[in-house]
Amino acid sequence: METATQVSVDTDRSFDRPLHSTEYLVDGALKTWTGNTTPVYSNIYTKNAEGEVGPTLLGSIPDMETDAALEALDAAEKAFCRGQGKWPTMRVKDRLKCLANFAEKMKAHREEVVELLMWEIGKNKADSYKEFDRTVDYIFDTIEAYKKLDRKSAKFDKESGIHAHIRRGPLGVVLCLGPYNYPLNETFCLLIPAIIMGNTAIFKPAKHGVLLITPLLKAFHESFPPGVVNIVFGRGRKIASPIMQTGKIDVLALIGHSSSAVALQDQHPYKNRLRLVLGLEAKNPGIVLPDADLDLTIKECISGTLSYNGQRCTALKILFVHESIVEEFNSRFAKAVDALHYGMPWEEGAFLTPLPEPNKPEYIQGLIRDAEAKGAKVINKRGGELSHNYSYPAVLYPVTSEMEVYHEEQFGPVIPIMAYRDINEPLDVMAASEYGQQVSLFGRDIRKIGPLVDVLANLVCRVNLNSACQRGPDVYPFTGRKNSAVSTLSVFDALRSFSIRTFVAAKDNPYNNEILDALMDSKDSNFVSTEYLL
Ligand code: G3H
Repeated sequence: METATQVSVDTDRSFDRPLHSTEYLVDGALKTWTGNTTPVYSNIYTKNAEGEVGPTLLGSIPDMETDAALEALDAAEKAFCRGQGKWPTMRVKDRLKCLANFAEKMKAHREEVVELLMWEIGKNKADSYKEFDRTVDYIFDTIEAYKKLDRKSAKFDKESGIHAHIRRGPLGVVLCLGPYNYPLNETFCLLIPAIIMGNTAIFKPAKHGVLLITPLLKAFHESFPPGVVNIVFGRGRKIASPIMQTGKIDVLALIGHSSSAVALQDQHPYKNRLRLVLGLEAKNPGIVLPDADLDLTIKECISGTLSYNGQRCTALKILFVHESIVEEFNSRFAKAVDALHYGMPWEEGAFLTPLPEPNKPEYIQGLIRDAEAKGAKVINKRGGELSHNYSYPAVLYPVTSEMEVYHEEQFGPVIPIMAYRDINEPLDVMAASEYGQQVSLFGRDIRKIGPLVDVLANLVCRVNLNSACQRGPDVYPFTGRKNSAVSTLSVFDALRSFSIRTFVAAKDNPYNNEILDALMDSKDSNFVSTEYLL
């Protein structure tokens, strides 16, 4: 690594006004934290007021203690009130108004949030705007999806002489934890459907990408009744673990690593009551067939392996290339990787950007060293070039199952390539893998692709033909097998994941029918309603 004296500033741009936030949201009140705080640094280096070069101070957040976390839990529990609270029993229409109101208020913070996305997690400008806009769209799309769901439920069924009015109801209190790579979007993809369905939530932002939540606190505060959304800041062991230990969480909603999900689940005393909505790690392979169009394949493999420096759960994390074309693929792919533009997140056209985790470059170097010691070579000229916050993408070939990079979800800029002779080789690797999210299949011959798709669809949950793996569009199901997910997320599926079917049933007789008729006319029940939401 560079020595302290070698380290230079990354940018002339400065972060002028550090955001020292002491606010948190509990029980409908924006409270001021008076205890310890944690400084938030960007891994992008600038010169500080004393002229020293180092990580840029962006601000600070509360380092909250367990008591405050439990206070947030009490507020969420009180707002849900075992299903008797105002929020879970409210008319759908009124809940939707709160959500739309929030989304409108959120829009006003676009520039601030994008600036923080760039500094906090090094996401390039185009992708930072995309993350913000995609999240706002997601909220409005979720509102429309819920209206549709509600319209479908605004009726009575009759079977075997029993009338039934079937809807989806909330589950209770949700603990919501998001990842650093999509600190806004993926957290909101959990939080928004959770609350729209009538649950109440405690949300703790990720370690990186935390300050960008603070401009939105007021919008949450102004948009929802007390206790519906509670936002706390601090360490998982002081906040998430004690909350789980109470047994009062009904849904653990987490996007992150399975080890964290399992550790939290283990703390819950009544596991049978705990619903899990989890988006976890993956090792999505790209399989290149002998007849693949190499121009297209290389373009998609670049975006699949290296968008946001490979820090996406959907990233292509290993490439299997047929031995007949591996040489040509490797030489062209290596050149394409070396031609990528590295720059600061705000620079036009910067594709590769600084890594937000201080230890990541060294971790990536460790994977490279291990692979080299076991026979692989870095086949691109710039592969592994190191600075204090980056390790230039290294293309490793030939990779074998003895190497760490073959097994680990690298979540960073290193690309392992294996050659195969028989298509069963990558299929067997996938079948034996601990992960099962997506695959990219590159080729043209439908006699080969047809039977392959039949098998691949059973090994993963999305087969991408001649294109990189990805989560979007958000209306499509996002899930995985084995260690890659529990439950399904999408605009529509998330509404199901955060709810349960519940219904009113009545025998078909004059006495009941008169009551049901009167109920529908009177609007005394928010649940029994055939109102058509426009
Ligand atoms: O980190 C995993 C994300 O869900 C990936 O989403 O495919 O839209 O980048 P994306």
